Amino acid sequence: MTSRIAVLASGRGSNLEALLDYLAPRASNAMVTLVASDKSGSSALALAQVRDIETSSLEMGARYEASLSDLLENHAVDLIVLAGYLKLVPSSVIHSFRGRMLNVHPALLPAFGGEGMYGARIHRAVLASGARVSGATVHFVDEIYDHGAIIAQWPVPVYGDDTETTLATRVLRAEHALLPRVVDRVASGRIKLGVDNRVSGVMDIVAPRDAFAPVSGEDLDVAIEAALALADS
Ligand code: GRF
Repeated sequence: MTSRIAVLASGRGSNLEALLDYLAPRASNAMVTLVASDKSGSSALALAQVRDIETSSLEMGARYEASLSDLLENHAVDLIVLAGYLKLVPSSVIHSFRGRMLNVHPALLPAFGGEGMYGARIHRAVLASGARVSGATVHFVDEIYDHGAIIAQWPVPVYGDDTETTLATRVLRAEHALLPRVVDRVASGRIKLGVDNRVSGVMDIVAPRDAFAPVSGEDLDVAIEAALALADS
């Protein structure tokens, strides 16, 4: 049975695009059937329209919770992916989608996360801290910002001459490789959130044995695919 995915995004939508590009040619059992945004002018909505995916501009304010719940129910959504979604998801939705809602974060949680940690602020904080490693994290969503059980992470180096932009670009590339593969595996039930809040079906850490993973190009996809495939077997 096909798993119906809703993507919530506030902005650019490059993670949405990576997810669509990954799922489409694979005849995967997962399909993005809805893209919703709190910003009616977001590029994510425009991209979805181009790809013939149903879209919705979310109502904010008093009707937010009820309208989002109705929307998800009407579209028979199985899995929610937060891809650059900046609004807090109402707790009733989080509760109903426990183990069925993922978020991608552009740093190695639990560091550099939490309320107010979004966009360039994250990379600025990483650079200011002197950390030599950052990366991408995909985690299940719970009631606290950036706090739910971590599913997979991919490290990238932080270089001495990095700016917020160069670091963000390097991390984003890892997000694009990691998120779709994790979504596909959660959608197919290969990765699960247990009652003990532990994630099954992943390696202890999805990371290379060498000092650093490839950071770009096809090598990066191959390395992440290989690491996740180890967990599949
Ligand atoms: C990504 O870095 C994501 O991790 C963060 O916001 C950014 C969204 O980028 N939560 P995009 O809209 O997917 O291009």
